[in-house]
Amino acid sequence: MIRFGIAALGLVALTGAIATHQPATAGSESPKIAASAHLYDIYCAQCHGVQRNGKGVNTVGLSVQPRDHSDTAGMSSLPRDQMIKAISEGGGSVNKSALMPAWSAVLSKEQIEDMADYLIYVCKCGTAQ
Ligand code: HEC
Repeated sequence: MIRFGIAALGLVALTGAIATHQPATAGSESPKIAASAHLYDIYCAQCHGVQRNGKGVNTVGLSVQPRDHSDTAGMSSLPRDQMIKAISEGGGSVNKSALMPAWSAVLSKEQIEDMADYLIYVCKCGTAQ
């Protein structure tokens, strides 16, 4: 019985550890924000960074560095429409580096629009349209 108690305690601790291991941005936010954060971790973080600061593991040797999505001032100048176009059709479509891939074959139109809203959330530049 005591052994069971200890095992149960261990399970509670483990569950707690898993529960707290969420991306900082997912938290108690809306389901769309959480879903976009999850997609970002899968597809974008390798370049744009787990911290959303443009310092992903895959940036070594990139001749153009990925955008720092946590940069409020820098991101404020990026209209939502341009974000959507850049994400859908790649950097080349908005006269930026083609090192930024096109995602329209991977993400749905709605997921890309939600991603733009997520980026506006991440940069804390709520005025970007
Ligand atoms: C292979 C690396 C790589 C991946 C993966 C990547 N990006 Fe990028 N991204 C870049 C680079 C490099 C730039 C900078 C382009 C420039 O400034 O010329 C960029 C720029 C951007 C920009 C700014 C475009 C602009 O007009 O300034 C947005 C928005 C963006 N990325 C979103 C995303 C999203 C969302 C994902 C995931 C779905 C993603 N990126 C995945 C490399 C990447």
